[in-house]
Amino acid sequence: MTEKEYSREDWQGHYESNDLGWDLGQVAPPFVSLWEEKKLPVGKALVPGCGRGHEVIFLAENGFEVTAIDFSKGAVTYLERVLEERRLNGRVLHQDFFGLDNSHDGVYDLVLEQTFFCAISPRQRQDYVLNVARILKPGGMLVGLFYHTDKEGGPPYNTTREDIEMNFAMSFEVQELNKTSLSAEQRKDKEWLCILKKKD
Ligand SMILES: C[S@@+](CC[C@H](N)C(=O)[O-])C[C@H]1O[C@@H](n2cnc3c(N)ncnc32)[C@H](O)[C@@H]1O
Repeated sequence: MTEKEYSREDWQGHYESNDLGWDLGQVAPPFVSLWEEKKLPVGKALVPGCGRGHEVIFLAENGFEVTAIDFSKGAVTYLERVLEERRLNGRVLHQDFFGLDNSHDGVYDLVLEQTFFCAISPRQRQDYVLNVARILKPGGMLVGLFYHTDKEGGPPYNTTREDIEMNFAMSFEVQELNKTSLSAEQRKDKEWLCILKKKD
């Protein structure tokens, strides 16, 4: 069992050695389907732990005012370059998600979660929920794919249905929580597609 927690330097090391096993190389297909079904609230969106930012690019292409956050320089540099090359608007913040200041409070219509909740230590999960609730507008949505690795240790740390229900129940109403046949091949039956609405 891996018990050492990942540091910022550990994550940055993955970008330096191009060891990005989590990177799908495309926006996760279930998000495209949600977009087509008009289930993603258009407006201001934030993507925490965005990595190379395939979700960020997708949101920017589809009219969202998107903010991306990652504390690894390699992720931020890559994403800024792609946004510029494609002439897309997007704000990329090189910082710790847990250090967002109060200028973000109540700002976002949507937080899009993709392989960030499983990247942080399970000890930080309540802090994640508090921060997402803090930065969302009343009635704002957290839409995410949560990694059900079914393995001990991490990262990636396993997320069960109960983990989601237990962690988010206080501040969010669960609207959908299911496995989806649209998952990328390597994630089939290994992720929860979850739509959560912030309680008033
Ligand atoms: C497993 S990767 C996922 C990247 C991207 N979401 C994807 O699916 O391709 C996790 C990312 O979260 C970033 N990260 C981890 N902890 C962070 C924190 N506390 N604040 C900001 N970024 C963080 C890492 O640098 C890394 O890019």
